[in-house]
Amino acid sequence: MNFRAKALTGMVNIAVFGSGHGSNFQAILTAIENGRIPEARIVCVLSNNSSAGILQIARDHALPAYHLSRQQFATEEAFVERLCALLDGHRANLIVLAGYMKLLPPELIARFRSRILNIHPALLPKFGGEGMYGMRVHEAVLRAGESESGATVHLVDELYDHGTILLQKKVPVLPGDTAEGLAARVLDVEHELYPEVVRRIARGELILPASEVPAHS
Ligand code: GRF
Repeated sequence: MNFRAKALTGMVNIAVFGSGHGSNFQAILTAIENGRIPEARIVCVLSNNSSAGILQIARDHALPAYHLSRQQFATEEAFVERLCALLDGHRANLIVLAGYMKLLPPELIARFRSRILNIHPALLPKFGGEGMYGMRVHEAVLRAGESESGATVHLVDELYDHGTILLQKKVPVLPGDTAEGLAARVLDVEHELYPEVVRRIARGELILPASEVPAHS
């Protein structure tokens, strides 16, 4: 893939979406707080799960945290409208999915085209797609007898785990590996990879395709 189009200029205002522990969010937040990514900030965190650890991490860091799910709204349109209002209100120009277990509404994907990232715990395009999440991914890798696995950060499009791959990092599969052991090793690598991708985007070293999303300052 040739990233020729214009850079995400100005401050990168990140909205994080997650459903679970939030360890990837924590890794990105730590990188920002440590001064590794001065051109980026977290503007809000959203979760479909009211008890998600990711919301607690956000609150602990005095960041705006929202429990928002489709079930709270009578229609998909109302849900999307609220999502967009929140994102606009926080001037978000990059969405980072960090363990978000729901498909995003197509209208949101279209609106933030090329400005939504996801991390997947395998070397896409292998071991991705619908139903490939959590321990199932690592079990499938072991079943297939792969000698390596890893993590992938990619752009989000309308299909599961399908958008353009931005960066990958490999880990070896070891003799006698269990899915849990492999998952833990891959997660360690995720925590290096995701902040690194955000850093490269924020510094203009990784230029995303053009998008209608305005660059906020
Ligand atoms: C990670 O393994 C990520 O690859 C997948 O979901 C998991 C999220 O973990 N998409 P955490 O919530 O960031 O700890």
